[in-house]
Amino acid sequence: MNIIWNKTSGQFHLYNDRISYIMGVGVTGELTNLYFGKRIHEKEDMSYVVFKMGMPNVVVDADTETYSMELNRQEYPSFGTTDFGTQAFEIETANGSRISSFVYKNHRIYPGKKGIDGLPATYAADDEAMTLEVDLTDEVAQMTLTLFYTIFDKYPVIARHARFVHNGNAGVRLTKALSICLDLPDQDYEWMQFSGAWARERIPEVRKLGTGTVSIESKRGVSSANQNPFVIIKRPNTDEFAGEAIGFSFVYSGNFIAAAEGGNHDRLRVLMGINPDRFSWPLSEGETFETPEAVMAMTDSGLNDLSRTYHRLYNNNLVRGRWKNEPRPILNNNWEATFMDFTEETILKIASKAKEAGVELFVLDDGWFGDRNDDFAGLGDWIENPKKLPQGMAGLARKINAMGLKFGFWIEPEMVNPDSNLYRRHPDWVLSVPGRKSSLGRHQLVLDFSRKEVVDHIYDMLYKVINGAPISYIKWDMNRSLTEVFSLDAGPNEQGTIYHRYVLGVYSLYSRLIEAFPDILFESCSSGGNRFDAGMLYYAPQAWCSDNTDAIDRIRIQYGTSYGYPIVSMGSHVSAVPNQQTGRRESIRTRANVAYFGTFGYELDLNEISEEEFEEVKGQIEFMKKYRKLIQFGDFYRLRSPFETDQAAWMVVSEDKNSAIVGFYCMRSNVNTLPGFLRLMGLDPDRLYRMEGDEYYGDELMNMGITLSCFYKKGFTISEDHASFVTVIEAV
Ligand code: GLA
Repeated sequence: MNIIWNKTSGQFHLYNDRISYIMGVGVTGELTNLYFGKRIHEKEDMSYVVFKMGMPNVVVDADTETYSMELNRQEYPSFGTTDFGTQAFEIETANGSRISSFVYKNHRIYPGKKGIDGLPATYAADDEAMTLEVDLTDEVAQMTLTLFYTIFDKYPVIARHARFVHNGNAGVRLTKALSICLDLPDQDYEWMQFSGAWARERIPEVRKLGTGTVSIESKRGVSSANQNPFVIIKRPNTDEFAGEAIGFSFVYSGNFIAAAEGGNHDRLRVLMGINPDRFSWPLSEGETFETPEAVMAMTDSGLNDLSRTYHRLYNNNLVRGRWKNEPRPILNNNWEATFMDFTEETILKIASKAKEAGVELFVLDDGWFGDRNDDFAGLGDWIENPKKLPQGMAGLARKINAMGLKFGFWIEPEMVNPDSNLYRRHPDWVLSVPGRKSSLGRHQLVLDFSRKEVVDHIYDMLYKVINGAPISYIKWDMNRSLTEVFSLDAGPNEQGTIYHRYVLGVYSLYSRLIEAFPDILFESCSSGGNRFDAGMLYYAPQAWCSDNTDAIDRIRIQYGTSYGYPIVSMGSHVSAVPNQQTGRRESIRTRANVAYFGTFGYELDLNEISEEEFEEVKGQIEFMKKYRKLIQFGDFYRLRSPFETDQAAWMVVSEDKNSAIVGFYCMRSNVNTLPGFLRLMGLDPDRLYRMEGDEYYGDELMNMGITLSCFYKKGFTISEDHASFVTVIEAV
């Protein structure tokens, strides 16, 4: 890894073993992109790739007669001079002008990587990454813009963000400040996004790019189940196993936009950042605005390779603290077992059975506080309900600990029910517009987390419940989108900052709780997967993937999620049948075979299942304890797509290639077909492996594949809907 500054040509070359990123100071002082892709040799001057030809409609000045930004590639473009594409940022100056033009001033190159104040970001030690900061200035607007580029040593990754400082005293307004822009020289790409809605999150969708714009966004205040802030552009022939692709992952949990714009001269521009819609940020003298980070990864070896880059990067350089690279406890959550209708006694009964099965952590879900007996009341009153918890949270936690289980509980700190003491005392603490009705979601309103006093108050309440109780885990939920976003505490000039300040408030509460209770494992949740993003993973290393726990639907959801997020980040449990969302009755085996590929746990009362099933559950827990390190942190490969075939398959391989686990699922049985072969990946071709009692060479398993008929003796048959198997492969 290195970052080279060629002074005479004014060009930077950031490279590691796999990638090169080259840019330079352009004809008019702007930063021009010259190349991003597979590693190429370092050369002093690459400016021959800049087009000074064609028929530019407008040029910057007479000396540069043949040069127009429109025909070239920009690093962080503005609108209003000679680039007619979508701009990465916009500044409104005091006189109402929205033109800016930044020119190179100086730069710094240093080992490692700095954090971003108040925001999540990847981090790196000095030997893991190098960073380039480029300062550009606009004298008229009296602004300094700093662009940050970090290249990682071990990963084909560049992390980027931008910082604006207003040096004058006139005051300016940022109306757009994206995190990343990548201009590419051709448009022969497809766009891949991960979309859905509640209970069907992160389903891949692919479409061809060309001239014009394809874009996705969230305006819900959360990253959303509807569009995930992770996109891929790939060559049309790229598949899971081969080909070029570039990923863009936004390390942020609020409104966002991601777009690919094809210009009329081959250029493809990819942009990602905070959604400019509803964003407007005033800067007075000396004030700074720093964008969140976007992480760009590149592969020339297929989508599986791209995903593994994100898995490793996020496990090693985004997730922090006690739970970084730690296998996760197997938990039992009472939600689907009792909903809010429980007593301490019923909880202890469920927990005791869970302990008998081998579960390690018991989680008390919604309903333990205030007047929370249904979802009409209580949110905001984070004080134990003495009828349900006579000795408080601490009392229950100790009883559960005495059984040999760790204990954790559910919160939804950003919300308040109108029927709550908190709302009666502070009706002005919610996001709402004076004189207008506030829309409700699940009978609740959203607290104005842009206000420090609100966050402080929630912190104090939660601190009291957690402190002094042996709490190992917290599930942090967030169950509605933001509407009527207006802060009663902010002036008319500041209302455009509230969406972002809200997210900063959420991050600050997370930070304070993590600091106070560093050993707690946080799991984020937002009606399931409504806020499953890289920003959240910085605080909560795992996220409840979806409220849809139907095993067959979950295969699709977890498969889609795996493109951008590590296996260990996916909260996945076995729940009761018939499934609460779909009404389907999957076998306890298939439910577990899917849930293994995540954090694993149970979302049911184990007293309610048959003795036979209970024995199976014990075996499942034993299996997961033995193999979770491999499953959660091994190299993950998608083998067969449930979106393209009637089957699904994936596998994990240990780093030393000694062991692997394959999961195979029959989504739909087909009559009069042969079982076929499944080709494995990631093994050592020259080693002998044992699978189901027989021996095979790695090359045999990867090139010829395994015949699915060899699992028939284990009772697996593809002529049965939703049959599944999970098999362990060990080097002999
Ligand atoms: C949300 C979550 C569920 C559960 C309930 C509790 O729907 O996604 O897992 O915690 O809230 O009210």
